[in-house]
Amino acid sequence: MTQPAWLARAVFYQIYPQSFYDANGDGIGDLAGIEAKLDYLADLGVNALWINPCFVSPFKDAGYDVADHDSIAPRYGTHADFVRLLAQAHRRGMRICLDLVAGHTSDQHPWFVESQRSAANDFTQRYIWTNNPWVRRDEELDFISGTSDRSGAYATNFFAHQPALNYGFGQPTRSYQQDVDAPGPSATRAALRQTMKYWLDLGVDGFRVDLAGSLVKRDPEHFGVRRLWREIRAWLDANYQDRVLISEWGNPEIAIDAGFHVDFMQHVGVPGYDALMLGPDSFPKRRELPYFDSRGNGDFRRFWRSFEFQQRRVAGRGLISLPSSNHDFVRPRHQRDFDDLKVLYAFLFTWPQLPCLYYGDEIGMRYVEGLTSKEGGYERTGSRTPMQWDDSALAGFSTDPGATPYLPIDPQNDRPTVAAQRADRNSLWHHVERLIYLRVTESDLAPDASLTLLTENSGYPLVYRRGGSLIVALNPGLDTHTLELPPLGDAAAVLAQRCQVMHGPTGWRLRIGARGYGVFTVS
Ligand code: GLC
Ligand code: CA
Repeated sequence: MTQPAWLARAVFYQIYPQSFYDANGDGIGDLAGIEAKLDYLADLGVNALWINPCFVSPFKDAGYDVADHDSIAPRYGTHADFVRLLAQAHRRGMRICLDLVAGHTSDQHPWFVESQRSAANDFTQRYIWTNNPWVRRDEELDFISGTSDRSGAYATNFFAHQPALNYGFGQPTRSYQQDVDAPGPSATRAALRQTMKYWLDLGVDGFRVDLAGSLVKRDPEHFGVRRLWREIRAWLDANYQDRVLISEWGNPEIAIDAGFHVDFMQHVGVPGYDALMLGPDSFPKRRELPYFDSRGNGDFRRFWRSFEFQQRRVAGRGLISLPSSNHDFVRPRHQRDFDDLKVLYAFLFTWPQLPCLYYGDEIGMRYVEGLTSKEGGYERTGSRTPMQWDDSALAGFSTDPGATPYLPIDPQNDRPTVAAQRADRNSLWHHVERLIYLRVTESDLAPDASLTLLTENSGYPLVYRRGGSLIVALNPGLDTHTLELPPLGDAAAVLAQRCQVMHGPTGWRLRIGARGYGVFTVS
């Protein structure tokens, strides 16, 4: 299993389509809006996009409740708009990955409408149904009944309106639990492949797979779900070279083994992202302070122990991604200012991982507090507000300044905008632009270039070497540190703020101030 070469230099950008740019003035972002901003994205330097679900949906979970896998939601445009967007992105050397909601559908999906009928049909086994309508919870699954004539209850994956597709059970013990090779689960797998084939044949470059590890139920060792994805990976390698599978799994060791090229190390189970970025004021909430926090009480080892373990297991076979945030998490700006973000981003773009920027994080958009939930967002809603392009009405989000935007714009007067930051050489935007440029041009920053920690402590600062010739020093805290390091060669600063290297008698003396960062080449 080979990795597509382009992944080594990929920098992803996640677009939440309803909030990116509204090209037709109805207040909702759309595909034509993404197309209109492709030059912007190319200027920033990103070279791959992941677009959140843009398919027909009742939008009770912002599109993660798909009602037709093969059709673009009218609010985002048409099939022709998508084809044009893809061609325009490809013309600029930019890839597009779609969001594959593999584990469940909307309860309005025609498959589920059929599955709910009391008379048996081709879709009776497409979802997980008990024969007993009175089951509410069984083992790891929640069930709903009372919504149709079918005498049974259906398992849900997330919200009640998201019935779980039937991919079978790794260790079936109850009569309703089918083996992964039973006809129902086999037909579900074939349908999944059909959906993938539809978009791959159109030329999409891959998928981010929603809740990828959860398809097969009662599968404690993940044998069933690994087999499922390995078969898909083999099929992809044979028929669609250069396309990628990125999982929302949160356990790289298992996800890469299952055939994914990349796994987001962000969710429960593995302390990755959260040890770096989340704390008691975040959502999801974490008890400890994260490492990137100016209070300086984080513990880098907490992240390192788990990253290093995972990295060793996936090395050479797949990549870990530590995104800047996403539509389910608080934005990194929350409880941080621009100086904090500069240090954090210097880490994200120089660390051996696949960078993925959530739209708006390049300008430090805020998590907007106190919003009424929209489309099943709940507290996530504040991370989903319209992109802030400029100082005009609606922050330039819509071509119609009088439109009612999908969600309120960050109401604060000093809300960051792309226009203001592009005009300021010292802005976060330009910092991100420089970091992306470094990330794609420096072979020492490629994900498989070596990483050596040069600081042994769990505290601050953090110094590491990448490849043969790059040294990175970061101090998210407010204290100034002076560090004696072995002789590492002659240093030239590529990017440095409050960070200097002096050459002492025994080697390097590195001085790094409050929220300082430095990237040095050594020769
Ligand atoms: C994933 C998505 C999230 C969605 C859920 C259910 O976690 O990122 O937004 O609500 O799956 O599909
Ligand atoms: Ca629109």
